[in-house]
Amino acid sequence: MEIVMKKLEEYVRSIPDFPEKGIIFRDVTSVIQDADGLHLAIDGLQNILDGVDFDVVVGPESRGFIFGVPVAYNMHKAFVPVRKKGKLPCETVSQEYALEYGTATIEMHKDSIRPGQKVVIIDDLIATGGTTEAIIKLVEQLGGKIVKIAFLMELEGLKGRDKLAGYSMDSVIKYP
Ligand code: PRP
Ligand code: ADE
Repeated sequence: MEIVMKKLEEYVRSIPDFPEKGIIFRDVTSVIQDADGLHLAIDGLQNILDGVDFDVVVGPESRGFIFGVPVAYNMHKAFVPVRKKGKLPCETVSQEYALEYGTATIEMHKDSIRPGQKVVIIDDLIATGGTTEAIIKLVEQLGGKIVKIAFLMELEGLKGRDKLAGYSMDSVIKYP
């Protein structure tokens, strides 16, 4: 009997009108609750980083943690969390931003990136690009250099890529 492995795209569940009418929510829980789905996702992100020289993975709360930490661990790099406002205990830098549904403020510890460190940003998804644009501002404020930005999914219609002009970015799955 031939065993056919499902493709990564087939693990993503799409939910219409969540969390608001008109949004098609691309759910990653259905990817990571399957051992093969989780492997495909982490491998796909690591492929994007093939040959990239970097020191630190930076990932935003909460879905960026799911994918950022295993990639950092596998590639023997550090992981720095970007958290929603008020969660980090030491001195922070913060940035407000808009996303597909609402606004938010994210923070990083001031000592989390050393000047000159080469940074890779990893997240599950880029929609408007607002989150990533805010992370870039924080990392650069701390003196880090963004060398790559990697997403599991990209919602091309929302043109988040345009906000990241001048940075090297790639995504594993692209939705038109
Ligand atoms: C989601 C997603 C990305 C961001 C993408 O996170 O995980 O971080 O939105 O949207 P953007 O490109 O328009 O900024 P969310 O803020 O919903 O938080 P969560 O990961 O905790 O669900
Ligand atoms: N974050 C922002 N937009 C999203 C979407 N359409 N699906 C999943 N996560 C998102």
